Parts: sequence; structure tokens; C-alpha cells
Amino acid sequence: MTVTEHTLNALRLELDGKSILESLSILSQNYPGQVVFSSSFGIEDQVITHFIFENKLPIQIFTLDTGRLFPETYSTWSRTVERYSQPIEAFYPDAEALQAFVSQRGPNSFYESVENRKSCCHIRKVEPLNRALAGQAIWITGIRAEQSSNRQDMSNLEWDEAHQLINFHPIFDWTYEEVRAFINKNGIPYNPLHDKGFVSIGCAPCTRAIRPGEDFRAGRWWWEDASKKECGLHEVEKAEKV
Ligand code: ADX
Ligand code: SF4
Repeated sequence: MTVTEHTLNALRLELDGKSILESLSILSQNYPGQVVFSSSFGIEDQVITHFIFENKLPIQIFTLDTGRLFPETYSTWSRTVERYSQPIEAFYPDAEALQAFVSQRGPNSFYESVENRKSCCHIRKVEPLNRALAGQAIWITGIRAEQSSNRQDMSNLEWDEAHQLINFHPIFDWTYEEVRAFINKNGIPYNPLHDKGFVSIGCAPCTRAIRPGEDFRAGRWWWEDASKKECGLHEVEKAEKV
């Protein structure tokens, strides 16, 4: 058994049967100053933000501002800061890399090829994410199993080979209805696009509403083949699991 497998198994035992709040507290005690949560201000992320801020847990929340988010996402971000009066760290693309890419290929080159789309995602999300995760031990996300068939194969606690840390998805087993009910019950600010048919919300030019019955991620990069629809943030989905 590798050290990683050993650590993961021990953590799984420690978190077994624990509530979300207890799990987040245990992780932040076990890894002081090395637990971070990434928020895109989607409805799932707002649930986790609420747990962290409401209980003043020592977990840093950060967001990747791609520069192409919906106005509604920026207003959700503002309302979240107003509601909890606690900091959310913003990470930005490297200015020189972005300047060169947009100057060469134009602002909307992601519609032209998967290669351009992946380069744009790399510059605007993946590279800033790598900076945000450097030196951390636990990365918390709002991923749920129901979101895609890829994600159904994941588990709530796993080794992230790409970033060399442990991923924790606290609401992995929640349904969309459970997420909405929690948000309503606690009066948590959420992105108004969720009331207009948007389920999974990313950058504005690459996200649209879905029709009833469509896959959760059907509105992301809808012009591409379903198998290519990941931006590289969650490489663990393709990595070998321990
Ligand atoms: S993505 O890979 O398709 O973009 P998705 O939108 O499903 O991811 O979100 C899954 C999780 O990734 C979110 O719960 C959040 O933890 C993280 N995430 C996605 N986009 C961002 C972002 N712009 N900033 C910070 N975290 C993000
Ligand atoms: Fe670029 Fe679209 Fe990826 Fe956002 S989702 S980084 S705009 S390709």
C-alpha cells in the first residue's frame, strides 16, 4: 500500500458517518492552513460556502475569475461577500499569456476548434488553478455524482494525481433538488440564471440553458462532442483512482 493509499484510507475511516460540518472541521484540523475550497458561485458551491463562512471554518475560499463570466455570476459573488463579510480570494489568468493568445487568435477562437478551446481554458482556468492549489493538501469542490457519467465513477474523497493532493466533494451524493431546498431554507444568495434553465454555469460564451430532460452538462461547450467536455480543472476524473 502506498503512503497516499494509506492516508486516504485513514481519512475515509475518520470521516465515515460524519456530517458535512464535522468532516470539514476534521480536515481543517488535520491539515491546518492547507485546506482550500474553489467556488464558481454555482448553486452547489454556495452550499459549501455557507457551511464554511457560517461556521467560520479556517478554509480559504478562492475563485478563478476567467474574465468571461456572466454578469449574474459577478453579482452573486458580490452578494456573497456582502452576506458573509468574509474574504474570497480571486485568481486571474497570466496577463502576458492571455494577451498573446487573444491577440493571435481573437477573443472568441474557442468556437473554432477544440484545440483553441482547450488553450483558452488552460490560460483562463487551469494555470491559475495550479497556482491556487500549490502547496495545499486538500482541495474541496462542489462536484456531485449526478452531474455526469464521468462524475458518477468518482467518490467523495480521492487522490488527485494532477495536483498531488486530496479532493473532497462534500455534497457528492446530493441531488439537485436537495441543493435547491438547502439554498431556499437558509436564504443563501444564488445565481439567478439557475431560475432560467441554467444548471451548470461556467463562462458566458460557453454556457447555455438546458431543456427539461437534457443532461446536466449539455449546456456547457454545447457545440463540442460530449467526450471532450471537460476544461481540465478536474483531471482526476481521468486519472487512475487509488
Ligand atoms: S468545470 O470543470 O466544468 O468547469 P464545474 O463547473 O462542473 O467544473 O464545477 C465543478 C467544481 O469546480 C465547482 O464546484 C468548483 O469547485 C470548481 N470550479 C469550476 N469553475 C470554477 C471557477 N471559475 N472558480 C473556482 N472554482 C471553480
Ligand atoms: Fe475560455 Fe470558454 Fe474555457 Fe471560459 S469556458 S476559459 S471562455 S473556452
